[in-house]
Amino acid sequence: MSQQKEHTTVSDDKRDELVKIAKQMMEKAYAPYSKFLVGSALLGDDGVIYTGVNVENQSYGLTICAERTSACKMVSEGCQQIQAIAVSTSIGASPCGACRQVLAEFANKNNFPVYLNNATTGETLTTSMRELLPQPVDLFWLKNQ
Ligand code: THU
Repeated sequence: MSQQKEHTTVSDDKRDELVKIAKQMMEKAYAPYSKFLVGSALLGDDGVIYTGVNVENQSYGLTICAERTSACKMVSEGCQQIQAIAVSTSIGASPCGACRQVLAEFANKNNFPVYLNNATTGETLTTSMRELLPQPVDLFWLKNQ
């Protein structure tokens, strides 16, 4: 199912690859406290797939979500634009508010697709960055000064 707002697309093969990798990544999640495993696979503008998992901490608030792990890996490798991201969980969960804002930072006006995979049923919902966060903080004047 695809939702209303127009977004860019990637090939079906690339979408399937992202979803498959996100699902595989769940195994690598570090989630001893919540036991909620999250895997992500982010396609950068450079064509590279940046994987991610949630990384929890005994000081709970320091937990880093899978989506932000992927975004940080992308930026630290020199890429600053997202083409698409797949997230896989046992319930087809949607990115948290903090992750939405961080992903929006690297949209650069590109409304990229977001694939939400339910690893239990195998279903994948296609939504988009703007669908998830229609009005991100966008201090363009601050970023470009
Ligand atoms: N989590 C993510 O990795 N991504 C999200 O978008 C939602 C939540 C993680 C954080 C925590 O480790 C666990 O899922 C339960 O909230």
